Amino acid sequence: MRTELLFATPVWIEDKCGVDFDKLKEFAYFVKSEDPKGRQVSNEGGWQSWDFIDDVMKDNALSELRDKIYEIAGRACDEWGFKHYSLKITNSWININGRGAMNRLHTHPGCILSGVYYVDVPKCCSGPFTIVRDFKDQQLKEHWGNANNFESWEGMNMNEYDIYPVADNMVLFPSWAMHAVGKSSSDEDRISISFNIIAHSDHYHEIYPTRQHNRE
Ligand SMILES: [Fe+2]
Repeated sequence: MRTELLFATPVWIEDKCGVDFDKLKEFAYFVKSEDPKGRQVSNEGGWQSWDFIDDVMKDNALSELRDKIYEIAGRACDEWGFKHYSLKITNSWININGRGAMNRLHTHPGCILSGVYYVDVPKCCSGPFTIVRDFKDQQLKEHWGNANNFESWEGMNMNEYDIYPVADNMVLFPSWAMHAVGKSSSDEDRISISFNIIAHSDHYHEIYPTRQHNRE
């Protein structure tokens, strides 16, 4: 018998982006010092910047990271099977989570691919990045229970997946995948930069002329 794992949720993890994260750390604290209030979205506690759009990222300290995001997102979308497409970062923002800070379960509506780059992560206890199986697919958990009730805990049966990032990691995931960040018990800051990406099919313009973007 063969097993088909249908409707998989791809999560891409790049362990070494090779980005100058010390420079980004400096930039994160600079932005925070200019706007100590920031904004409140999925975060409870912690500080989150307002959005940087792609055109701004090009010309500020985020430019190296921006290039890397496009490179890795391109590889992810190739693997996802996209063809004849271009990508555009719609927005990007900085997160600084201290002790007690967390991000509630949420998705990123309005885009196709989302991700996070880790600038600085405390050695201990700053909370995992957790991707959660869609609510409508959680009957297995309701019926059969959690990890202790399975011989192995893997893609087919797990209902949540924890990632414990370190600096220079990047994680990419479909924007509709539910995710959260655990509460930090560290006195050091966890600094990350999140982003959203939309994809444009080269064929769309024949059908939806107004949906063109990222074209010279
Ligand atoms: Fe998020």
